[in-house]
Amino acid sequence: MNERLVNVPVILAIESSCDETSAAILSGRKVLSNIIASQKIHEKYGGVVPELASRAHQANIVPVVDQALNEAGVSLRNLSAVAFTQGPGLMGALLVGSSFAKSLSQSLSIPLIAVNHMEAHIMAHFIHNAQENYPDYPFLCLTVSGGHTQIVHVRSSDDFSIVGETIDDAAGEAFDKAAKILGLPYPGGPLIDKNAASGDPNKFHFTTPRIGGYNFSFSGLKTNLLYFLREKKAADAGFIERELNNICASYQFTITEYLINRFFAAAEELNIRDVALAGGVSANSELRRKFQAFCVAKNLRPFTPSFEYCTDNAAMIGISAHYKFLKGNFADLRVVPSANIRM
Ligand code: KG4
Ligand code: ZN
Repeated sequence: MNERLVNVPVILAIESSCDETSAAILSGRKVLSNIIASQKIHEKYGGVVPELASRAHQANIVPVVDQALNEAGVSLRNLSAVAFTQGPGLMGALLVGSSFAKSLSQSLSIPLIAVNHMEAHIMAHFIHNAQENYPDYPFLCLTVSGGHTQIVHVRSSDDFSIVGETIDDAAGEAFDKAAKILGLPYPGGPLIDKNAASGDPNKFHFTTPRIGGYNFSFSGLKTNLLYFLREKKAADAGFIERELNNICASYQFTITEYLINRFFAAAEELNIRDVALAGGVSANSELRRKFQAFCVAKNLRPFTPSFEYCTDNAAMIGISAHYKFLKGNFADLRVVPSANIRM
């Protein structure tokens, strides 16, 4: 590619909100490259250490952007705009991506686009796919990640409203904290999923609280598991090792039932036909299975992102930026990241 394409924007997108340094190049809605450097350093601490995340982003950002450009066969002068995650996320981590994007936009004299990370998880559904299968507006999305759990009513690419959300821990945190209690490494969500595959989901019973509206609460569930295991281990030291698959299956069953029941109750009340999953926890096999089954039973159209766009990645920032670019929704160079920005 030799020239800056005018009709189809070519966007460099950067994601650095948590522990993934990612850069992607999109031409229109097509992903030309999507490079993700996962920070392994956090594994030994059993969770993300913000200071270490910022340092790792600082070390990774230039090579990751370089690789994204090379893989896409795009040079800096081809770029129409540069986009970055404005928040929510870890402040030190966000600062690395935003400072890099600002400098690049200024040096190339191209527009700067600020993207909300939670909106981007949802907009990942509009990345070009071979089946040309996309949700119609308005649709309802269950966004479940390590930091957030939200039911979002999506009316257009820039009109989102939160119908319900967690009042404490996120669903991903409920998975990760349980994994830690069970002695599994971070991030534990995928490992609980894997162990649950050969377990009995009805062997043990955990409880979720009834709270108002379409909100969620996960902090009690983790405590429920902790006390349950403490009691079992006191009587039988090998309990966790022997029952790991059944504990994982039962715990996962509880979380997925809770999410699915509340989400589809909201979809019914809002009379929604197209429903979607987004965020890292949407990679969970039990959640996906229940989601599909519910849609068949209720005659709704289900949309699940491909695995590569479930967990944090810059392609989702790029697709959000694409729609902002078309609307001329650019940021000025005084824009700052925000750790708690809302939709
Ligand atoms: O969206 P994401 O990559 O990062 C945030 O924005 O938080 O989500 C990461 C979360 C982690 O909590 C991880 O354990 C969870 O997604 N996760 C899963 C699975 N794959 C990732 N949780 C359950 N089952 C999975 N298969
Ligand atoms: Zn995320």
